[in-house]
Parts: sequence; structure tokens; C-alpha cells
Amino acid sequence: MMNSTKPRYAVFGNPIAHSKSPQIHQQFAAQEGVQIEYERILTEPGGFAEAAARFFAEGGQGANVTVPFKTDAYDWVDEHSERAQAAGAVNTVIPLGGGRFRGDNTDGAGLVNDILQAQGVEIAGKRILILGAGGAVRGVIPVLLAQQPAAVTVANRTPAKAEELAARFGIQTASLDALPHHHFDIVINGTSGGLSGSIPDVEAGVFGACELAYDMVYGEGAQAFLDFARRSGAKKTADGLGMLVGQAACAYALWRGFEPDIKPVIRYMKEAV
Ligand code: ATR
Repeated sequence: MMNSTKPRYAVFGNPIAHSKSPQIHQQFAAQEGVQIEYERILTEPGGFAEAAARFFAEGGQGANVTVPFKTDAYDWVDEHSERAQAAGAVNTVIPLGGGRFRGDNTDGAGLVNDILQAQGVEIAGKRILILGAGGAVRGVIPVLLAQQPAAVTVANRTPAKAEELAARFGIQTASLDALPHHHFDIVINGTSGGLSGSIPDVEAGVFGACELAYDMVYGEGAQAFLDFARRSGAKKTADGLGMLVGQAACAYALWRGFEPDIKPVIRYMKEAV
């Protein structure tokens, strides 16, 4: 067997069984014309540091980190990229040699690349509404801001969390049930509500001028929000599959210096999902 000679990568999370990352990274490896191993590692709560140390001691060459370990990974690495620092969370670990590790966060870049490249929607100069104020939203705000939108507003069921993000990033906040109508070009659902079948409580009028409604979740969990957005006037809708592929592509490039083309992989995954 050639197994031991293939570069090894992994994603750490809990739950992790349904992660699409192995399929996505294998598509990238095929584009590059190399063979890699990419495994899912189910990690117990509180066990990230030990699991990551073991993986890299055994020759791992890069790792992705998903829920709920992104802040554990942030604490574990030795240095942070600027965007990981801004997000306070790490989704990509890059070994530096000598037992040192760098943490990056490619979630925001995945979202921005999908909106710009796959959806073909400009972000610069646009008015953006983000629904939700959890870890996922915090990770993408600094990267969205770097695209110089006209304004970013964050609205959340628990207003205090939106206010905290607004203060941290110097953006606007508004109450979910009193959002101004016809004020948003791009509406992004960053809540985890879709996973349990609920959507944020916003009025249909919020989508009156909406060019793109985007859900950071992909597949079934995104459908209720995207259907509501389309019925309410959103011209275009997209789920988070492109973001998932995009964040993976950025991680792959950081590990291997090869930049995958995301579009054919998004198409492939759409058929596979
Ligand atoms: P994640 O890492 O996915 O961001 P999180 O940090 O737990 O997870 O944040 C979940 C986000 O989804 C929060 O903004 C949460 O709102 P609250 O801060 O009020 O809890 C939001 N959310 C989850 N379920 C929701 C629902 N049914 N309706 C509206 N917002 C919801």
C-alpha cells in the first residue's frame, strides 16, 4: 500500500460523521493531480488539544476545525493570521515545523469568494444585512468589511449579542422585528435556526430591494429561509454550499500552495448532496 506516503489531512469536529470536507478535498487533490488522505476525526468535548497534537505528531500536514472547536483551536495554535485574530476563531491549522502551528480562518473568504465568483454579485458599495450574531457570523464580518460594502447591519434574536458585534466591528445593529424595508441589497442568514427548521422572524418587506439572499447553512436547512426570501422579492438565492467549498479551497491553498477552482467542485457537490 502507498497509504503511508500520501500527505495526511483531517477535519476535527463533533458531530463530524456527515462532514463533506473529505469529498471536497479529494476533488481538489484530483485537480492538482496528487493523492491525499483526508479523514474525519470525531473529537470529545475538551479533547481538541490532545487530538490535534497526536494527529500532527503522527505526520498530519494540515487540519480543518469545525463546530464546536474553533475557539479551542484558536487557543491551541502558536500564531494567528490577521483574519483569525479578528474572528477570534480558527478553522484551518497549518504546521510551521519545529512543533509550531499557525491558525487561520477561511470562512469569511469562502463566503466572499462564493458571493463574488459563483453568484456573480458585487459586495463593494452594497448594503448588507446579517441575521444572527453567533460564532459563524463573527468569523465572516471582518472579511465582508474588507470588500468595502456601503453598510453592514447585524440583527439578532438576542439583541445584546448583535450590539456586542456592532461595537467590536464598528457596524450597525437593528431590531429583528423593526428592520427598515428596501434598505438591503444582500441579506445573509447566519443563524443556526434552519438546522431545526425555523427562520429568523423578519418581515417580507426586508427583501424588497434584495439582489441576493444567502443562507450560510447548505441543503435542507437553508430551504425555508431561501423560499421565504424568494417569495418576498429576493432576485437571487443561494445556500452555503459554495461557502463550504470556498473555505475548503482557501485551506487547501494554505497547506499545498495550489489554488483549486471552486466552481466544478460546487457543481459536483450539488449532485452529491
Ligand atoms: P454558530 O457557531 O452556528 O454561529 P452560535 O454561536 O450558537 O452558533 O449562534 C447561533 C446563532 O443563531 C445566534 O445568533 C442565535 O440567536 P441567539 O443569539 O438569539 O441565540 C441564532 N439562532 C439560532 N436559532 C434561532 C432561531 N430559531 N431563530 C432566530 N435565531 C436563531
